[in-house]
Amino acid sequence: GGFAVVVVAAGSGTRLGHGIPKALVPLDGRPLLEHALRGVAEAGIADRVLVTVPAGDVELSALAREHGALPVTGGASRAASVRAALAVLEGSGCAAVLVHDAARCLTPPSVFRSVARRVRSGARAVVPVLPVADTMRRVDEAGRSLGTVDRTVLRAVQTPQGFELALLRAVDRAAAEAGTDPETVTDDASLVETHAPGVAVRTVPGHEHAFKITRPLDLVLAEAVLRGRAP
Ligand code: C5P
Repeated sequence: GGFAVVVVAAGSGTRLGHGIPKALVPLDGRPLLEHALRGVAEAGIADRVLVTVPAGDVELSALAREHGALPVTGGASRAASVRAALAVLEGSGCAAVLVHDAARCLTPPSVFRSVARRVRSGARAVVPVLPVADTMRRVDEAGRSLGTVDRTVLRAVQTPQGFELALLRAVDRAAAEAGTDPETVTDDASLVETHAPGVAVRTVPGHEHAFKITRPLDLVLAEAVLRGRAP
């Protein structure tokens, strides 16, 4: 069984303020999705690539196909989009899956490879992480400070996240059965903690360039990163 890579690209991109799906937003003249798919291809670990696209989409689907990937209509939330891709992977013969945010389109191939390597060596759930730079503080619902959290034990979580395919399928099904609101599921590994508490989630070093393009400032940073890269 090989590796499937699911690139989730069905987001609306409202926080970027472009009025088009985020994965179509141009970066150095090319859509975010194209950058993301190049990174996946360069990593050389994928036996098949799926891309979740917004309902009714034509452009992202065409782009996915151009890059040898299969477009899959996503859902109303990231978790719903991942679920749609898992359904397509039913009976695919793949043993493992990497789930990656299209919005982390500058993720270096080395991160894909280190996640894949860790999964291949037996880890059932793997996430790339980075230390957090800011001091972190907990607040209550009214915004009142509840004190500083020790940031040395905290990590910011990136993608691609790697899983034994059967495990991700099982925890996704468990979340559906438990009636979990998909809007509250911001990544895939958190489903493992909730629904397969006996399974260890392993970490590998993430990369600064794997940041998620969310707000307009992130695009400025991404353009600068691209300018600094060898052609
Ligand atoms: O909205 P957010 O930045 O957290 O989205 C993370 C990733 O999940 C993005 O690449 C986005 O395209 C994808 N997504 C999706 N389906 C949704 C919402 C987000 O595939 N309904």
